[in-house]
Amino acid sequence: MKFALITAVLLSSIGLVNVANAASVDKGQALVEKGNCASCHGAGLNAPILPAYPRLAGQYSDYLYYALKAYKVGNGNPQYGRNNAIMGSQVQAFSDADIQDIAAYISSLPGNFVIKK
Ligand code: HEC
Repeated sequence: MKFALITAVLLSSIGLVNVANAASVDKGQALVEKGNCASCHGAGLNAPILPAYPRLAGQYSDYLYYALKAYKVGNGNPQYGRNNAIMGSQVQAFSDADIQDIAAYISSLPGNFVIKK
C-alpha cells in the first residue's frame, strides 16, 4: 500500500499520472453537443454526412487530441499544424483541457474502427 502510494506520487511528479487533470468524458460530451459536431460527423460521430468527412467514434483519444491541437495550431507551425478551414474554425475557442475532454468523450463512443490482431 505504502509502495503504491509512493509510486503514484513519484509518477505524478514526473507527469505520467496526472489525476488532477484527468479528462472528463461528461464535459467532453457537453462541448461536442454545444459545438454541434454531429452536424458533419453524423449521429454518434460515426456516420459522416459526406465521404470526405472522417468517422470519429471510438478513435484513440491521443490521436484525437493530437488532431484537434493540430487544427488549432493550423499553419502557425507547418511541421505540426493541420491546415483545414472547416476544422480550424471549429477548435479555436477550445482550451487544452477542453480538447482533452472532447478526445476522451469521442474515444468512449462505440465506433466501427477495426484493429487487426
Ligand atoms: C462543418 C462540418 C464540420 C463540423 C461542424 C465539425 N467537423 Fe470535424 N471535420 C470536418 C472535416 C471536413 C474534417 C476533415 C478535415 C481534414 O481533411 O483535415 C474533420 C476532421 C475532424 C477530426 C480529425 C479526424 C481524423 O481522423 O484525423 C476531428 C478529431 C474532428 N473533425 C473533430 C470535430 C469536433 C470535436 C467537432 C465539434 C467541435 C467537429 N469536428 C465539427 C468537418 C466538420
